[in-house]
Amino acid sequence: MPAKLSAPLCRRLESAARRAAQASYSPYSQFRVGAAVLCGSGKVYTGTNVENASYGLCNCAERTAIFTAAAAGERVIRAVAVYTPTPAPTSPCGACRQVINEFGPTALIISVCDQAGRLETTLDRLLPDAFGPGALRRRRRA
Ligand code: THU
Repeated sequence: MPAKLSAPLCRRLESAARRAAQASYSPYSQFRVGAAVLCGSGKVYTGTNVENASYGLCNCAERTAIFTAAAAGERVIRAVAVYTPTPAPTSPCGACRQVINEFGPTALIISVCDQAGRLETTLDRLLPDAFGPGALRRRRRA
């Protein structure tokens, strides 16, 4: 899966992530995040962070978007865009990197914010030597 998107597709994904952040439920951190995932079908799914009074149950924007995509039957992630209304771009947290790896081990990861700075990398650079589905297929029977 090549980690390269056309400029219009990139822009579409970034604006979807920006729009998704508007629905952020983040009363505890006040840190709004929006994510958009481009899947194998060509469809884009979005998500935002959803926090909880039991803090450990907060769900990141990226995982909200990915679980929505998976529930719609998608199994390939080509790219993920993350938007935060901050001066610097935000990279996906470790838990989200692991979840992206399940469906997009070489996915393009784009982070954008309210200033010109942006990050563009790939999941395998953010999570080298990842644990993934292949490790379970290789296991020996006890
Ligand atoms: N958050 C995300 O949505 N994505 C990330 O990759 C990092 C953190 C959210 C979780 C929580 O609601 C808030 O940002 C502060 O950690």
